[in-house]
Amino acid sequence: MPDTPLLSVRDVAKSFTLHLRGGLELPVVANVAFELGAGECAVLGGPSGIGKSSILRMVYGNYAVDRGAILVRQGGEAADLASGDPRLVMRLRFTTIGYVSQFLRAVPRVPALDVVAEPLLQRGLGQDEARRRAAALLHRLRLPEALFGLPPATFSGGEKQRVNIARGFVTDHPILLLDEPTASLDAENRDTVAGMIEEKLARGTAILGIFHDEVVRARVATRIIDVAAFSARRDAA
Ligand SMILES: Nc1ncnc2c1ncn2[C@@H]1O[C@H](COP(=O)(O)OP(=O)(O)OP(=O)(O)O)[C@@H](O)[C@H]1O
Ligand SMILES: [Mg+2]
Repeated sequence: MPDTPLLSVRDVAKSFTLHLRGGLELPVVANVAFELGAGECAVLGGPSGIGKSSILRMVYGNYAVDRGAILVRQGGEAADLASGDPRLVMRLRFTTIGYVSQFLRAVPRVPALDVVAEPLLQRGLGQDEARRRAAALLHRLRLPEALFGLPPATFSGGEKQRVNIARGFVTDHPILLLDEPTASLDAENRDTVAGMIEEKLARGTAILGIFHDEVVRARVATRIIDVAAFSARRDAA
């Protein structure tokens, strides 16, 4: 099925219930619909607070949806991630959907090299080969080798972000979600990350991302999805 999209988001709506404010309903997005195919890089665009990160979190299964379907192709079948089955979400994260969040959630005491190697170990690769690949990526992202053996908790924002990127890029998930991966990086490292994204696209990875950086966006985006068009707020757009 070469033309079947890898990801198909259909009629998704999301509102937040603010329990601290008497259960006030805060609608964010509605009628969210788009598809994503292999080798595409769709960029979620629109002003701050419009719902870009929320859409990414729904596609990763971090936020439940109020309605709609998020169909993820696996082999010949499409699984609906919006069904809310936690085992399905875990399985899709293992096999199909990778995610680079905006901030690294550092596990205490785990050295940077192992933070990056871990997804490969979980997939059955031997420790030496997993560490070798992790080190190659961290070198490419110019992380000083002296930091490889240290836990990232005390790293600078940009150092943490590079560990996070390496961890997200070390596996070969068919779908990759990127939430502002270059936000705290210098120009040289932004350029490196843009190159890494281009390599993923050339290998057929489908990317859904948020990029505020105009240079990176212009280089990698194959399409912009205007999230303002899905806004559920009366005062927006
Ligand atoms: N867990 C939550 N609880 C309550 N409201 C939330 C929650 N997550 C997001 N929101 C609200 O939903 C709206 C959209 O937030 P979101 O983070 O998706 O915006 P964004 O487009 O990514 O913005 P930015 O460009 O600033 O990152 C905001 O008004 C935000 O306050
Ligand atoms: Mg955001």
